[in-house]
Amino acid sequence: PHDLNCLTIKELEKHAELRMDKQTRDYYNEGADSGSTLLENSTAYGKYRIRPRVLRDISLIDTSVSVFGKKNVVPIGVAPTAMQCLAHPDGELATARACKEAEVAMGMSSFSTSTLEDVAKAIGDHSHVLQLYLFEEREHSKKLIKRAKKADYKAVFLTVDTPMLGRRNLEIRNQFKLPKPYKIANFVADSDSAASETAMEGASSSAPNAAENEQKNSASTQGYHDGKQRRGPTGPVTVHTHAPNPTLCWERDIGWLKEQCAPEMEVWVKGIATAEDAHLAVHHRVDGIVVSNHGGRQLNGALATLDALPEIVEAAKGKIPVHIDGGIRHGTDVFKALALGADFVWVGRPVLWGLAYKGQEGVELCLRLLSDEFKLCMGLAGTVKVNDITKDYLVKIDKSGF
Ligand code: FNR
Repeated sequence: PHDLNCLTIKELEKHAELRMDKQTRDYYNEGADSGSTLLENSTAYGKYRIRPRVLRDISLIDTSVSVFGKKNVVPIGVAPTAMQCLAHPDGELATARACKEAEVAMGMSSFSTSTLEDVAKAIGDHSHVLQLYLFEEREHSKKLIKRAKKADYKAVFLTVDTPMLGRRNLEIRNQFKLPKPYKIANFVADSDSAASETAMEGASSSAPNAAENEQKNSASTQGYHDGKQRRGPTGPVTVHTHAPNPTLCWERDIGWLKEQCAPEMEVWVKGIATAEDAHLAVHHRVDGIVVSNHGGRQLNGALATLDALPEIVEAAKGKIPVHIDGGIRHGTDVFKALALGADFVWVGRPVLWGLAYKGQEGVELCLRLLSDEFKLCMGLAGTVKVNDITKDYLVKIDKSGF
């Protein structure tokens, strides 16, 4: 049964646009600075063409893979994105229910508008991983890790592309603010009641004061470079104050995080963009890599993730799994990423568009469109198992196409 109003992710984006207010639309859709990396994440897929094989009896296609010890019906998961209640009042709970229904893994953002426990309950025994920003002030992160273990999260995805917050101009101009009654749910209990009032005001209460925060940030970064004692962020936990952590480093933090997470949860790094860092990830014994540039929201001008993928696969493949996100809008994109060596892909904005379109049903539609397209692509390319998809099925051409 098709939704005749919505047969593609492009159409889903259009429907969502009509349903979101300007602040939400801008917050979800924009990239950093000029947005060129955001654009190239998608257009990079157009540089490859598929070399289909024929006469292969493709009557039985198996699109499934195993991730985090569970069967996933397709090699596609829902990337962690913050504050999903902006898209739909059911927010992350709707996404979790859709993931359960679709048998697809869910990445849960630390900065969600539902608690990690409620999301875990909604997704049941299906795979869920917690995206983590390791705060300078460790206590909040420690508590979160403990709670995630208890709620049966299979892994933490440490986001490593955010030592500083990327510059998103629409977000600044709109003075982005999380509307009442929504809260950054995971941290409300950590703040005293006065502070949590402020947290409710917004991910950021701090966004309206972006300039002030920037000043604070650069002042403290200055202190860091001077070798003076840094003071981490204080007060209510918000994206703008706590997510960026300029002190994060391989030597000190990865080992610490692995200790905290062991033995129940794996530690992955999300935001790897070079072979050098893939080597370091292997060296520091992380359990997996997500090739990501935060959907073009952090360093604009960085390589599209698909363009960064081959060198990372070469550096890591065989030792640890390599996942990718950014710009995936078609089943054929999934096929191409796998052909270039990714083991699995994660999808961010299209899920938010589904959520804005019809809540849980919209997320299910989004996942169904991508899954159906992927299966069709596998069959028409002459592959019946995900493992069959290799670089022999791709050719790179000069001209971009759609
Ligand atoms: C994100 N992303 C993100 N990543 C993360 O590690 N923690 C987070 O809280 C968020 N929040 C977030 C909010 C919004 C609105 C977007 C669009 C993205 C990045 C996300 O996990 C993923 O890397 C990208 O979204 C993938 O790119 P596409 O699929 O959106 O093109």
